[in-house]
Amino acid sequence: MLIRTHTCGQLRESDVGKSVRLNGWVNSYRDHGNLIFIDLRDRYGLTQVVFDKESGLSAGAMDAADKLRNEDVIACEGMVRVRVGGENPKLATGKIEIVVDKLEVLAKTDNPPFLPDDLSKLPNEELRLTHRYIDLRRPSMQRILSTRHKVYQTTRRYFDENGFLEVETPILYKSTPEGAREFLVPNRHVPGSFYALPQSPQLFKQILMVAGCDRYMQICRCFRDEDPRADRQAEFTQIDLEMSFVRREQVMEAMEGFVRRLWKEIAGHDVPPMRRMSYREAMEDYGIDRPDTRYDLKTRDISAFAGKMDFAIFKNALEKGKDRPAFNSRKGVVKALRVPGGAEKLTRKITDGYTEFVKTFGAGGVAVVKVVKGEDGQPRLDTGIAKFLEPLKGEFLALLGCEVGDTVLFVADVYSVATKAIGELRQRVARDMGMVPRSGAEGGPWNFLWVVDFPMFERNKDTGKWVAMHHPFTSPNDDQMQAFLDANEEDEVTIEGIVSAGYDVVLNGQEIAGGSVRIHDRAVQSKVFKLLGMTPDQAKEKFSFLLEALAYGAPPHAGVAFGLDRLVMNFVGTDNIRDVIAFPKTQTGADLMTRAPSPVPEGQLRDVHIKSIAPPA
Ligand code: AMO
Repeated sequence: MLIRTHTCGQLRESDVGKSVRLNGWVNSYRDHGNLIFIDLRDRYGLTQVVFDKESGLSAGAMDAADKLRNEDVIACEGMVRVRVGGENPKLATGKIEIVVDKLEVLAKTDNPPFLPDDLSKLPNEELRLTHRYIDLRRPSMQRILSTRHKVYQTTRRYFDENGFLEVETPILYKSTPEGAREFLVPNRHVPGSFYALPQSPQLFKQILMVAGCDRYMQICRCFRDEDPRADRQAEFTQIDLEMSFVRREQVMEAMEGFVRRLWKEIAGHDVPPMRRMSYREAMEDYGIDRPDTRYDLKTRDISAFAGKMDFAIFKNALEKGKDRPAFNSRKGVVKALRVPGGAEKLTRKITDGYTEFVKTFGAGGVAVVKVVKGEDGQPRLDTGIAKFLEPLKGEFLALLGCEVGDTVLFVADVYSVATKAIGELRQRVARDMGMVPRSGAEGGPWNFLWVVDFPMFERNKDTGKWVAMHHPFTSPNDDQMQAFLDANEEDEVTIEGIVSAGYDVVLNGQEIAGGSVRIHDRAVQSKVFKLLGMTPDQAKEKFSFLLEALAYGAPPHAGVAFGLDRLVMNFVGTDNIRDVIAFPKTQTGADLMTRAPSPVPEGQLRDVHIKSIAPPA
């Protein structure tokens, strides 16, 4: 084989006159009879190679060149010369070409299902994933793989420089409730017993702190059997971190340092000190715990004002949980969203659609009013609930700072439902109004923030039971510890008000990292398990290893995990997580290339003591 002397992205004018060998794929060819031009491609770029009968190329080689087709793999040898047909300024190698005198065809290809160039229209994603090896040849996909590689390298360098130890933790793990559904792996030796794949290395990293590792990092795979979404895969990668003898501040400082370094090295961007926002502020102003602050739309609690209106829907909502304190999930509220310029852009059809939209979040609907210019030139309330607002018009306009041209949208329900619904609506309205700027990678803003002071617990909306908002190993905030230990488990208002020492990093409305100070005291951990509805026996059965480890000298510790796939999504400017994973899964968890998951022979099932009850396919 003619082993290459250079890559297809390497040769320049200074190489003119050299004899070189290149290897690669035929990206395109033009046949001019006695002259054949080929753009040869590898990971590094494209180089034009010329087959010229006149220049003494053998008839056999010319014949082989004549038969070359897109995506054949070849090796060639020849002389570098200045491009005869003029420079191609779009290519790094655009000033030169290779006049071939030897050709070796390394692999002929079948007719490819699509061509991996970035100029033609992309085929559908199913085809791309089925033939991922062709899709990954596209220069844009190679760039993504290369960015992802740089993220690994910068990460390892930063944490190594800061004294973190890289430790691998098991993939075959114990089934431990942590939030999502687990993937199970049957065990051959003990019939009826299973490993679970880790949702994250959470407990191992905590135990590594008990084991004296002091600072841990791992770029690790996590597995969660949940429905994939635009930024969620069942199998994804975290940059997982844990530190001993720290409180929240030290972790946040180390992580900001990491974010700053990463953005500087990968995107050339200087990240300013990151703003902190409490969970409550996020929920009040944005209706979501990962606010996108790139556009200036805020939600407002107007319950006090709405209580003065003679409007049954608002009144009924405000009756709910009337005696509960503010911000309690079951207290009725009225939330409003003022949309500047909405009166014109948000047509009746669009706002009708909003009612259907918020129903998916459990709210009854959206009330609407427009602020238009009256005949007297003054603001006039129009459509929707205008007549109910009319008696309090002046107060209403002043309260929300309304101007002519605005639309105001309202959702009334209990706090948890109304807040979620208006928060989701805010994002949808921003898209409909064209307010969402370009991504950071495309020159738009990078809005980072920390969200802190999350509640420890929330109610599962299906079962009504308490669940940990972060995970069950998150500590109450330092100033809440006593209140938590003293709290009566039946006192749901107090329990809901306990604030945890958790923190998330949010970038342009996406959660890119989450972490917390951990519980390092057995009594506190046991109380959390109890609140989550676990009996002491159940807690022991699931978590005896953790409770035991906490009994043998556990240092105070805290940590965080970044979603590596999401970091890469931001750097390359895609909102499809599958674009940044070499071999991702589809919405139904399938790997279209290997055709996993797939049935296995019965004997294999028998070996692991499993009998399938699935109906025959
Ligand atoms: P958490 O569940 O918040 O925390 O996950 C940490 C970060 O991982 C990313 N992420 C995901 N990315 C892609 N697909 C998914 N299905 C997915 N789920 C999460 C997010 C998220 O911020 N053990 C804790 C961390 C800790 O407390 O230290 C944990 O796993 O960017």
